[in-house]
Amino acid sequence: MKDSIRKPFVAGNWKMNGSNELVESFVSNLALNPDVDIVICPPAVYLSKLSSASFEVGAQNASEFASGAHTGELSLGMIAESGCKYVILGHSERRENHAESNELVARKVKATIEMGLIPILCIGEPLNVRESGGVFDFVKAQLDAVAKECGAQYIKNSVIAYEPIWAIGTGKTASPEQAQEVHAFIRKELTALDASAAASVRLLYGGSVNAGNAKDLFAKIDIDGGLIGGASLKIEDFTTICLAAS
Ligand code: 13P
Repeated sequence: MKDSIRKPFVAGNWKMNGSNELVESFVSNLALNPDVDIVICPPAVYLSKLSSASFEVGAQNASEFASGAHTGELSLGMIAESGCKYVILGHSERRENHAESNELVARKVKATIEMGLIPILCIGEPLNVRESGGVFDFVKAQLDAVAKECGAQYIKNSVIAYEPIWAIGTGKTASPEQAQEVHAFIRKELTALDASAAASVRLLYGGSVNAGNAKDLFAKIDIDGGLIGGASLKIEDFTTICLAAS
């Protein structure tokens, strides 16, 4: 039986995609589902427009700094003012393409919680790590860095997304069994720090989730929803995925 203290959670990460037209279509047409927390994370320029919608909105990244000479960055205060409740942090595209270390991601998690926002903390291994059998050690190091910076209290204030890098944008989804195995490991690691927070933290799976495979993934006991990339740009597919979570 799935634990009913964890309300299903589905977030769409639009990455660097979207347009005014897509924003308007989501604001007008995305069906809410009272059984699922639904969040859309568009490029930052669309945040204010989407914040009038009845679903929640999240940013895709944030600076660790409050203000200053950081051209191109957004502070958490600005993100909060634009109507966001959530911030995706540590996405593999930020870790890999913008050299974000485990320690930097951990500092961002801390600053986000201090701002009263909820991090959607992304973790997950590249293909070579999976092939060499190092998945648990890799994911543990990512989690340990956050615990070292924030203490166990981050668990009750965060959502955590397991996104194996080899499954992102590749059409090669982790099998429900592969995903569940890592989710169970993550929950066990968190349980060692704070058992009650670990029982209630939502663990999302991300990586080529689509309208066809979502139901089987979300049926697994430790998979509480998804972080959806490509399929979150199509309102029908995203709606099907949200339904699959409920
Ligand atoms: P895809 O669903 O396109 O594989 O992307 C997943 C992802 O990176 C969500 O953050």
